[in-house]
Amino acid sequence: MNNPYYDKLLRCVSQVRERIGDFEPRIALTLGSGLGPLADMVDVAYTVPYGEIDGLPSSTAPGHQGRFLFGTIAGVPVVCLQGRLHLYEGWDVHDVVLPTRIVGLLGAKTLFLTNASGSLDPAIETPSLMVISDHILLGCPNPLAGPNLDALGPRFPDMTNAYDPAIRALLLRRGAEMGLPMTEGVYVQLSGPSYETPAEVRFLGQIGGGAVGMSTACETIAARHMGLRVCGVSCITNKGAGISDAPLDHSEVLEAGELIGPRFSAFVASVLPEIDAL
Ligand code: HPA
Repeated sequence: MNNPYYDKLLRCVSQVRERIGDFEPRIALTLGSGLGPLADMVDVAYTVPYGEIDGLPSSTAPGHQGRFLFGTIAGVPVVCLQGRLHLYEGWDVHDVVLPTRIVGLLGAKTLFLTNASGSLDPAIETPSLMVISDHILLGCPNPLAGPNLDALGPRFPDMTNAYDPAIRALLLRRGAEMGLPMTEGVYVQLSGPSYETPAEVRFLGQIGGGAVGMSTACETIAARHMGLRVCGVSCITNKGAGISDAPLDHSEVLEAGELIGPRFSAFVASVLPEIDAL
């Protein structure tokens, strides 16, 4: 395939491959804002900072480290994407999904996405967790725009059940067993970086959104295009703008992530072996 982006992707994959030998991750875990400490669960075999891979932009968002951690969690071979690239940092959407595509080509079968979000439903408590049942990508470019990368997947991939129903059921069951504050709902991705206006929050709630954030849907699209199984859990760190009177602040988002982080880590460690076996 004569495509400069695809060539860059393959160059990134081979550079990472040189660093990790024949290590084969089964599950890729993308860590959202404030959820970086989930990486403490990884029994790390190899650390690969994005900045050391020629062609891969390094993450700049606060609360995001920008590196791959290869190792095991509860015995499952994983790669943690500790820090992601966001549209609001100015990256092209194709670069935003580059780490996702890299871990797909390194052999990951499942992508487990996490993020921080604001609630669109006044009844949802914060902080709490939302299993992502579906998404709405709004006002953001689609990562599959441009020439199709036929080696990765089809031109028009289906997005029905993009978030694997069997994994969703497992996540909800385990969340209930562990007594976690957990709901299921639709995640809306906007580009940010400004938070939503109260009018936008009302609109997003009316069109069926449960939570809003600035990531994830693009990565899901790229992963489904490649045939990876996808699941996602959103850490709802705050009420959407206008639902409470308090102005939104990124430090609050990071703090709420830290508050729920240890329980979220235990949850993830508990479900990973079962996700792998599904
Ligand atoms: N809006 C968008 N992104 C977010 C929010 C929010 O309220 N909270 C955490 N990430």
